[in-house]
Amino acid sequence: MPLAELCQAAAHRLPIADPSCYAYGPEQGGAEFRADLADFLTRHYGVPVQAGELLITAGASHALDLVLTRLCRPGDTIFVEDPTYFFALGIFADRHLRVVPVPTDPAGIDVDALELMLRTKVPRLLYTIPVFHNPTGVTLPEERRRRLAGLATEFGFLIVADEVYQLTGDLAAAPAPLRTFGPGQVLSLGSFSKILAPGIRLGWVEGPPDEINALQDCGVLRSGGGVAPVMCAIVSSAIQLGLQDSFLERACRIYSSRRQHMISCLSRELPAGVRFQVPHGGFYIWLELPASSDAVAMLAAGEASGVSFRAGPSFSPGQNFRNFMRLCFVFNEEKKLTDGVVRLAELIRSHW
Ligand SMILES: Cc1ncc(COP(=O)(O)O)c(C=O)c1O
Repeated sequence: MPLAELCQAAAHRLPIADPSCYAYGPEQGGAEFRADLADFLTRHYGVPVQAGELLITAGASHALDLVLTRLCRPGDTIFVEDPTYFFALGIFADRHLRVVPVPTDPAGIDVDALELMLRTKVPRLLYTIPVFHNPTGVTLPEERRRRLAGLATEFGFLIVADEVYQLTGDLAAAPAPLRTFGPGQVLSLGSFSKILAPGIRLGWVEGPPDEINALQDCGVLRSGGGVAPVMCAIVSSAIQLGLQDSFLERACRIYSSRRQHMISCLSRELPAGVRFQVPHGGFYIWLELPASSDAVAMLAAGEASGVSFRAGPSFSPGQNFRNFMRLCFVFNEEKKLTDGVVRLAELIRSHW
């Protein structure tokens, strides 16, 4: 956690005693913070990001909820990858949406299958995690990004790209964010949760100015003003002082070394027949056990023996992926990861 960085940023910002950041803020988020964020993203995404195309939110979860509130009506159909981020399924349920799963393969969303589906039904929007996917760890290659954006233009639907892991991996492994391939069709969700700290509760939507205006024109932001102006001001200082940059570099070094460590433990310990794709960023590894395995049934025994994971069906609107489990490699230090993998391998063998 960036304790020293946030102390330093707060010590820089709070003595400035700017009364405006203690008042209700502009709905879109303050101009200084959006400019600092645009500068940070432009440098790290490697493509230009405009302050006018950013709306500040209380994290990506809030961003997704806001997008659904403004763009969908109860009963609308949305498409999601199968599997997808399990908590997003809860947000869709809150909005009473019809969630239709789109198949994925080892390269991400299956754009051929999607095209066939679109010939029968065009969704209000498609929710996708194109980079270091939760739970699969997969990153959608450029060619598919182009196809996906092309399909959105051809059939006339919006893509909500949840790109919270964009900056968490090997730079060479993350293509440009999805908006690069279809700026008019894509809303990109980002968050400080994975690059600074989740307790900060700050994120953003990046999208075409018309969509950003439509999103900010909502009851919650009109009533409460822009999200967390004081926290925005502190994070502005973190960006201006280079603390966000240096923390991100440190976090990515830790993420990467834990990822490599987990991969080598899994390669050494797991019985033959358990498969996984090596991720190049993000937080997760998606294990595929033999088809007859039941990760749901294994969870309680796993937790009793001191290892935990998330079973596959919770990531699937149709409760698929019973023989899959998601492992998270970022929260524990190497020694705990080693112990966890040894216990996991024993658990799998005992359920073989
Ligand atoms: C794909 C994805 N989106 C959104 C979130 C939540 O982000 P936030 O903390 O910004 O709401 C997570 C957290 O795990 C996630 O994995």
